[in-house]
Amino acid sequence: MSTIVEIAQLYKSFGAETAVRDFNLSVEEGEFVTLLGPSGCGKTTTLRCIIGLERPERGSIRIGEQTVVSAEGGIYLVPEDRNLGMVFQSYAVWPHMTVFDNVAYGLRVRRVPGGVLKERTMRALELVDLAHLADRYATKLSGGQRQRVALARAIVYEPKVVLFDEPLSNLDAKLREQMRDEIVRLQREVGITSIFVTHDQSEALVMSDRIVVMDKAVIQQVGDPETIYSQPVNSFVANFIGVTSLLEGTLVARDGEICDMEIPLGGGLGALRVRAVGGEGAVPGDRLILGLRPEDVGLHLSKPDPSAARNVIEGVVIDTIYLGNFLEGRVRVGDHEIGIQIDHYEDLAPGRTVYLTFRPEHGLCFTD
Ligand SMILES: Nc1ncnc2c1ncn2[C@@H]1O[C@H](COP(=O)(O)OP(=O)(O)O)[C@@H](O)[C@H]1O
Ligand SMILES: [Mg+2]
Repeated sequence: MSTIVEIAQLYKSFGAETAVRDFNLSVEEGEFVTLLGPSGCGKTTTLRCIIGLERPERGSIRIGEQTVVSAEGGIYLVPEDRNLGMVFQSYAVWPHMTVFDNVAYGLRVRRVPGGVLKERTMRALELVDLAHLADRYATKLSGGQRQRVALARAIVYEPKVVLFDEPLSNLDAKLREQMRDEIVRLQREVGITSIFVTHDQSEALVMSDRIVVMDKAVIQQVGDPETIYSQPVNSFVANFIGVTSLLEGTLVARDGEICDMEIPLGGGLGALRVRAVGGEGAVPGDRLILGLRPEDVGLHLSKPDPSAARNVIEGVVIDTIYLGNFLEGRVRVGDHEIGIQIDHYEDLAPGRTVYLTFRPEHGLCFTD
């Protein structure tokens, strides 16, 4: 594999607002990379810098062998010279044109000769399964078909890389899933390098080879979905990728990998002592945040025997919802709330005392 996109030290602000700070990323040929983060974290601005709709104040972007922008080197190529495809959230198709003309439009503008234009347009339409509707007017298309026209339009130039800015967020749940699978299929079949933007963590986990988690203009973590989920580097990533209960406390002592942590319960109730992993670099007395995933927390109705292999926490049920295949709930522990998810029904009236357990290796300590 070779690197097809290289972004180095990218920085872009709007007035006092920094939208993207010191962004570094290499994308391999054929890779599907997702920028994931909450609204306003700088995803769109990053894409717009790549495509050439924003000029960064610092840093550079290379696509293939070509440096398309370098703030320090005084290089800036207009979007038309960057050979990139783009699919936006609002899938603008021209209603007064046929499917074929919608897709061929960009090639016409670029004065691609008729024979080549027809061949490329039909190839793009075949890839998105719309060849049989080439002559249909765009007004007669379903939402999903329109989205596929937008997809065909992005790939008809045979671009080196296709950029997607939340293309699924306007679709209803079923269509969303269909389009998601379609984009993944296209990416695998044609080997299109894709940079995909979403704020939806499950979308990112399902689609991506690698995920770039962003918050407040800064990359928090880059990794494959499994790593991002199971080894988040900080409490933001842990909470953004999969719901996580976060409990703040201090490091009391460290025994190899294991942190012995004290978590104040508040209200004069003393403190919890728990053992969990992580907290690299922290020394006794330092603030730590314990992250617990609902699926890693066990539930007991009577007090389990103490053991070094697991932590036991007493709490009181706040509420539960039964979802058929599992039960979700919240348990109050002093001033804290811990989410649970168990795979069987349990009659848990609010106010009932319960005992939560978790193994030290399932508790993740973070320093930030
Ligand atoms: N054209 C603009 N003018 C002023 N501020 C902008 C502009 N575009 C983006 N921003 C600001 O930059 C930050 C990042 O925005 P954006 O890249 O759109 O985030 P995201 O796509 O992750 O939701 C936000 O705080 C946003 O308000
Ligand atoms: Mg955006």
